[in-house]
Amino acid sequence: MRKVRLYDETAPVYHRRYRQIQRIKYQAITPMLDKGLIIDVGIGTGIGLSSLKGFSPVVGVDGAIEMLRVALVQIEDAGQRTQLVSLVCAYAEALPFRDCSTPAVISITAIQNFTDVRQGVEELIRIAQRDGIIAVTSLSKILPLCELVANFDLKFNMIAQFENLADEDDGLILQLCKRNQIKLR
Ligand SMILES: C[S@@+](CC[C@H](N)C(=O)[O-])C[C@H]1O[C@@H](n2cnc3c(N)ncnc32)[C@H](O)[C@@H]1O
Repeated sequence: MRKVRLYDETAPVYHRRYRQIQRIKYQAITPMLDKGLIIDVGIGTGIGLSSLKGFSPVVGVDGAIEMLRVALVQIEDAGQRTQLVSLVCAYAEALPFRDCSTPAVISITAIQNFTDVRQGVEELIRIAQRDGIIAVTSLSKILPLCELVANFDLKFNMIAQFENLADEDDGLILQLCKRNQIKLR
């Protein structure tokens, strides 16, 4: 069963329970990214949107429609209508964007839940521009990021590495090299 079903069932509880800890992760990651288009894969209930205020447009993707419904309420309540935010219900393993379409893609505490982690990460790489930034965090007890990176034949500059971010996540910010061969479908 796809793990997104569990998030659909628990969306309001997730938002209340994890708001503070998830915000810390977004606050650590986002100051290192250039302002501009950002795609957040696994945006969940939009906890990170306040940290993404200076970024525009923001496209949030999630496979759990109920998480996106809570995110929509956040956008309305926080008066973030002035910020250009679009929400898309889609799976990370088949992102509805063209190759090389964004300078920055982020995914915070989501990849350890992907049904097919390899396919999902390939999709993050595919949609990032060749010299674009990929910022990911993962629950380290489930999916340590060092193992993940070692499995990909990628050339990149490491911009930042966080260990035990907010006590539970690994975090990495990578800048891809233009020479990377992106696997095209
Ligand atoms: C732990 S939550 C993190 C949400 C948000 N990034 C945050 O920090 O609050 C993980 C999110 O990833 C989403 N997710 C998990 N697997 C996914 C997949 N294969 N495709 C799209 N979204 C997925 C879940 O629905 C959930 O909203």
